[in-house]
Amino acid sequence: MSTSPPDGEAPWWSFSTAGRVSFGVGCSRFLPEVVADLGHRVLICTDANLVRAGVIEPIATALRSLPGLEVLVYDEGQAEIGFEGAEVCVARVMDFAPTVVVGIGGGSNLDLAKVVAARLGDTRRISSWTTEGVPATALPVVALPTTAGTGSEVTPIAVLTDELHHTKVGFQSRVLLPRAVLVDPALTLSCPSRVTAYSGMDALTHAIESFTAISFEDKATQKYFDQAFVGKNPVSDALAKEAITLIGRSLVTAVWSGEDLLARTDMALGSLLAGMAFASAGTAIVHALQYPLGALTKTAHGLGNAVLLPSAVRFNLSVRQSEAAQVARLLGSLARADSEAASELPDILANLALAVGITPNLRSLGVKDDDLPSLAAAGGRITRLVSNNPRPVDDVALTEVLRAALDYVPGVDPDSTP
Ligand SMILES: [Fe+2]
Repeated sequence: MSTSPPDGEAPWWSFSTAGRVSFGVGCSRFLPEVVADLGHRVLICTDANLVRAGVIEPIATALRSLPGLEVLVYDEGQAEIGFEGAEVCVARVMDFAPTVVVGIGGGSNLDLAKVVAARLGDTRRISSWTTEGVPATALPVVALPTTAGTGSEVTPIAVLTDELHHTKVGFQSRVLLPRAVLVDPALTLSCPSRVTAYSGMDALTHAIESFTAISFEDKATQKYFDQAFVGKNPVSDALAKEAITLIGRSLVTAVWSGEDLLARTDMALGSLLAGMAFASAGTAIVHALQYPLGALTKTAHGLGNAVLLPSAVRFNLSVRQSEAAQVARLLGSLARADSEAASELPDILANLALAVGITPNLRSLGVKDDDLPSLAAAGGRITRLVSNNPRPVDDVALTEVLRAALDYVPGVDPDSTP
């Protein structure tokens, strides 16, 4: 690559993350001082399950014990929360006039905190953001993830359900990046095994899609602030590889032995690094197809990703053999030749899904042959994601990926069957 680009058109990449990221068992104890530095009227966005599990009370009590801090707990967060659900939260907390928002929970609670922090300073309803854009400013957000994970704590993205149009919408803006993040692996100890499996496969998908995404060198040049995902780059590659190593060695243990703090710590760090990677590089066709798949089947985000991942990886093998071979080796392949290691990767991923209780085919989610064209068309319309795929795709190609995922069986190469 030239070091003196003509007229500024040479490839470039950038990397952003949350304002300050803290990691470690017990680090959530720092929340009061983190919050006090940002505001004094504290809104906590969380859900009733975490309140019942006893996670929220000690945190709220610690905040209230600090002189000058007022705390309001909004505990009606829910999985796959939508525009209306977020508007209900805004209406409920408006009179409290928060000056800082703390999100505690899985991706939906963190996304709720991010959206409410932007919505509180703007008169426009969230539904208008799809056409008019996200507000230009937002209250500061502090994120404490309790799953590993969506990576939402370090991304400028918030995903909400559009109830009216029966789809998911991903809002993307730098104002949605949290100001501070406390990743305390102890907070994930109460995460049920099924959620651990789904969220862990989501994190692995983030890492693999980042590592195999289109390169920043092949992305069309954009204006500085228009650049959302920049494609795979040196920083995202380093983060993604470490994330794959951590998740690969500890996901199964975290799912079936949830009290294992070392496994939980690996997963929390793997999820964090994967989130940082995809916030820069971007995700691709797995996530693009998962949006309509989740809407059709009403299944969890990480589950859909786990089911789509092997076929998507196989589809991209022809242009990402080296990367696929590296991922396969990080996940345990002993193959010496890149071609052999890369070709093993789809089954390695499918077998990992099976090992955490996921049947890695679309049929298991209730998808039928007739559903594939509309799923492909809907996924193909999410251009911010499909444009990150290393192989160009159209509806035909996406249908091919879906068809391969429909009855995926590890050990059976669809190209060699009649
Ligand atoms: Fe995801």
